[in-house]
Amino acid sequence: MRREAPCKVNLALDILGQRADGYHDMRMVMQTVSLCDTVCVEETPAGFTLFASGISLPEGKKTLERQAAEAFFSFLGRPMPGLAVTLEKKTPAYAGLGGGSADVAALLWILRDRYCPELSSEALEQIGLTVGSDMPFCVRGGTALAEGRGEVLTDLRALPDCRLVLCKPNFEIHTPELFAQVDRKPLKARPDIDAMAAALEREDLAGVARHLGNVFEEVLPEPFQREVAAIKEQLIALGALNAAMSGSGPTVFGIFREEVDAVQAAAALRPAYQQTFLAEPLKKFPTVV
Ligand code: C5P
Repeated sequence: MRREAPCKVNLALDILGQRADGYHDMRMVMQTVSLCDTVCVEETPAGFTLFASGISLPEGKKTLERQAAEAFFSFLGRPMPGLAVTLEKKTPAYAGLGGGSADVAALLWILRDRYCPELSSEALEQIGLTVGSDMPFCVRGGTALAEGRGEVLTDLRALPDCRLVLCKPNFEIHTPELFAQVDRKPLKARPDIDAMAAALEREDLAGVARHLGNVFEEVLPEPFQREVAAIKEQLIALGALNAAMSGSGPTVFGIFREEVDAVQAAAALRPAYQQTFLAEPLKKFPTVV
């Protein structure tokens, strides 16, 4: 059983404030993109194994894949069969692209198709939420406004046809630390989430580009902030309508109208940034491969 696991970008990301449960209330516009891993699942006599090509898995901790599979079978009220899960990783990890959550979401879809095809996307989203705040969106896919912790989803009209260049600088960011920075500093510039949703509704790509924005950029450590700003400037100089950081970073993406410009921009960035990728927006529900 195989399925593609597409990443996401945050077209806009705003943080409204900290909540009593320690999480933050968010308002984000999320978009699934074609950059993806592939997840394969085989039934085995017993146990749960996870193998990933391209990354090392944390040792000693229960993986999100295992937690999600256990939550799935506990929801169905039946014992978990033996499962061997293989991730063919092509997406960068710890990049702000939700690659890890996308893998878990693809696993949940595989389990649903095999063991409970009548289970709704909403139920699968709730099972996903037990392992991470961005899981409901990764399960649903497409274009959506995400509120609450990230789990309150409203479908939006799809991002108009365009090309994306995704460029991951060579540093990693610890998400909880960035949230803590947001709690310490008042935010200066915040994206207009309603204007972004309205631009999508009008299928206005220039309007979407104008309203890109991510409050995490403001609270990055200084050298990282400069590097993210420099990549954004390069993408725009290379023909992007606009650029922003995705999620808690550090990947920066630029939106291009024309494929030829996106291809040239990716080629121009790759010598300095090996992890530069071309992608396009994907509509709801990842395809079975
Ligand atoms: O939900 P998830 O486990 O992916 O979140 C990882 C961490 O990110 C949380 O422990 C929390 O520190 C932070 N977070 C937050 N508010 C959110 C989502 C995540 O503070 N809405």
